[in-house]
Amino acid sequence: MESALTYFPPMGVYETLFKFLDATGKYMGTEGTHPWAQGFPLTTQLPDGPEIPTSITFSNADLKYPPATGGMELLTAIRDYYNHFYGSQISTDNIAIFAGGRPGIFATLAFLNPDYRVLVEETEYTPYWDALRLLGRKYAIIPSNPENRFRPSLADYQSQPAPSFLLKSNPCNPTGVTWRGDKLASLVQFCLESGRGGLFDEAYEYFQTGEPDSAIRYIPEIDKSNVFIVSAATKGLQAPGLRVGWVIASEQNIELFRNFSSIAMGGIARPSQICTAQLMELGRAKQARAAVGKFYDSQRSRYSEALSAMGLDLFTGDGGFYHWGRLPGDLTADEFNERLFKHEAAILPGTLCDMFRRGEKSPMADFVRFSFGPLSAESFEDDLAILRDCLK
Ligand SMILES: Cc1ncc(COP(=O)(O)O)c(C=O)c1O
Repeated sequence: MESALTYFPPMGVYETLFKFLDATGKYMGTEGTHPWAQGFPLTTQLPDGPEIPTSITFSNADLKYPPATGGMELLTAIRDYYNHFYGSQISTDNIAIFAGGRPGIFATLAFLNPDYRVLVEETEYTPYWDALRLLGRKYAIIPSNPENRFRPSLADYQSQPAPSFLLKSNPCNPTGVTWRGDKLASLVQFCLESGRGGLFDEAYEYFQTGEPDSAIRYIPEIDKSNVFIVSAATKGLQAPGLRVGWVIASEQNIELFRNFSSIAMGGIARPSQICTAQLMELGRAKQARAAVGKFYDSQRSRYSEALSAMGLDLFTGDGGFYHWGRLPGDLTADEFNERLFKHEAAILPGTLCDMFRRGEKSPMADFVRFSFGPLSAESFEDDLAILRDCLK
């Protein structure tokens, strides 16, 4: 029977997962596979990192409906976290809880005043494209390609007319390029101008070389802004399965999310919120920030050396847990994947990060996103052996 619903395909990463399943009969990420296409972190304890909880206690009261924008223990933990590490002065009324980072991003874009044009970089996090298209948002593309080495400048943003609304992952997925310090301050300042606003997606906040930075540090009065900071327990807290994310914004904007939750979400699972609040306790968070930064810095640099030695032209910045680079010769990312599938491995083809979605004609057609997020330090030599074999 014909479906009563309008069809739309899954986001790009899943396309690769399904191709992988067809070719190998296995789900990427399961035992024995090499999930270099996937964006999840290790969920085990890192060297010098805090313990990872494997149980949780909750009471009958936690089985009641949760408050629409989040329970007090998690809202307080998030407030204290940002005010402590970034000197902000947010209150719990500046925070809304979602079931991960993506729903927070989707809700912000869904409620965005249609007069605003979204400014999104040419090379960005795959589902931004799906969200913009599904929601019918107007958007303009900020150049981010081999010509500018995937490093757009503030001037590229300033050349766009207002009203406009930045949508940016920082550190960037897939490129790892990270705006920090004065540069980040100037981009935040741009978003604070009249007729401007923006969403800083800080999913990879902990994955930066040096002390993590956040856009929130540069917002003097969040209640007088249209800036949204999005993050989640997914990457830095190493807990994608909890499905907890949050948006920080002006009280006025957060109220809309509360209304939305009452209509369409009904709040977020209490056990997940309780667990996330514990993960964010200040002492633990301090340890996690240091351990995550150090471990993934070391993985980034050893894979950088190895991939470059195999002939990949890397453009990776100093954040995130991906390498972003061009394959040697005229090998395309799709052909490379066909070879990798034989070893139960896969990368994410660069075309899926192209916000113009130009397919084979994309300047990103011979680019790959190699994820070292899920890799333990021990798998290094085995990983290199497969890569070498497929690049011969
Ligand atoms: C840039 C970016 N933003 C947000 C997310 C949020 O993910 P989730 O919805 O799983 O919390 C991810 C995960 O891959 C990401 O890469």
